[in-house]
Amino acid sequence: MTKPYPSVHYHDYLQLDPLLSAQLPKSVEYGQPAHEETLFIIVHQVYELWFKQILHEVDSILTLFSAEKVSENDMGLVVARLSRVIEIQKLLIQQIGVMETMTPLDFLDFRDMLYPASGFQSHQFRMLENKLGLKREVRLTYNSAPYEKSLKPEQESSILDTEKQKSLFECVNSWLERTPFLDYEGFDFWNQYQDTVKKIFKEDSEVIERHEFLSDTDKERNLGVIKKSLESFEALFDEEKYKQAKQTGSWSLSYKAIHAALLIQLYRDQPALHLPFQLIQSLINIDEHLTTWRYRHALMAKRMLGSKIGTGGSSGYEYLRSATEKHRVFHDFFQLTTFFIPRHRLPKMPKEVEHKLGFQFTS
Ligand code: HEM
Repeated sequence: MTKPYPSVHYHDYLQLDPLLSAQLPKSVEYGQPAHEETLFIIVHQVYELWFKQILHEVDSILTLFSAEKVSENDMGLVVARLSRVIEIQKLLIQQIGVMETMTPLDFLDFRDMLYPASGFQSHQFRMLENKLGLKREVRLTYNSAPYEKSLKPEQESSILDTEKQKSLFECVNSWLERTPFLDYEGFDFWNQYQDTVKKIFKEDSEVIERHEFLSDTDKERNLGVIKKSLESFEALFDEEKYKQAKQTGSWSLSYKAIHAALLIQLYRDQPALHLPFQLIQSLINIDEHLTTWRYRHALMAKRMLGSKIGTGGSSGYEYLRSATEKHRVFHDFFQLTTFFIPRHRLPKMPKEVEHKLGFQFTS
């Protein structure tokens, strides 16, 4: 057998010389070696390597999504790559446990040598946030300077470029808007869904009104709860109200995209909706894992610093904790479950539509 390629040594292939000589503790440089600083450096470096891999996956997903029509094969690939990102995120969360084997007192041995370095200056982390779809106007202000000013000057233009590119959130929004089944061959999902919801509320109210064992006060209270729920549904039924809610940040997806997301989740048992459903599940997982990481990291900062400010100059824990909720990208999918109705109450699809959703569908 001919040997087509020159032989490669493990050590050289993995570039272990530069990689393993890239841990340069400041405490050693200043002649006060702190044992824990090596761990501190390696944990951060491993994070940056995983960020690189996640960006590699997200970039490929953005390319697949940029097509006019995302094919079934590509959708499978998108879901597989998102699953990989989710597995990596689980490691990222676990790694906090390794970092926390360093005690706050150990940290103080070298912390003062690191000012003003901070994870806040991580270029890759900001790239990831932007590529997922975090918007500048949503970001918490920090040291009253735009976030890109914390990066190295040569990194500014690439981060600003990511703000101009279509994010994963925007790609998903456009893809949802293209869902063909919203008004399809006699099946008008949105109108039928609204009728069903109103019917369910009417029936629930009647049950309460007729109830033998409820006092008038209890009836009034329960009817009030139903009225409030119906009002939240009506905000979703009325495009103008929805647009207002979008302006306040309560929703982010477009009106059409939100309908499609609801249809996919409610009719997810239909074979043609399996992959779209898995895609939404993956985005929910990614958002949940990133939020969990943010929260674990905030707790770690609190545990290490108490009420001290961060090395990057933020309010430390308070900033990180607020970012946990404020910097979420796919929050719509979480609140959409409010509008789920039981399977047995779902409007029935016409036979032909069901047939087409049963893997016979080609658009
Ligand atoms: C002893 C361990 C750590 C402490 C006490 C800590 C503390 C902090 C604090 C206080 C901030 C807010 C910015 C500032 O004022 O500096 C921050 C931001 C950040 N840190 Fe850490 N951190 C630690 C470890 C890590 C590790 C291992 C990573 C992994 C890459 C990391 C990544 C980040 C990122 C990405 C931010 C920006 C978060 C955002 O803006 O939402 N940190 N950290």
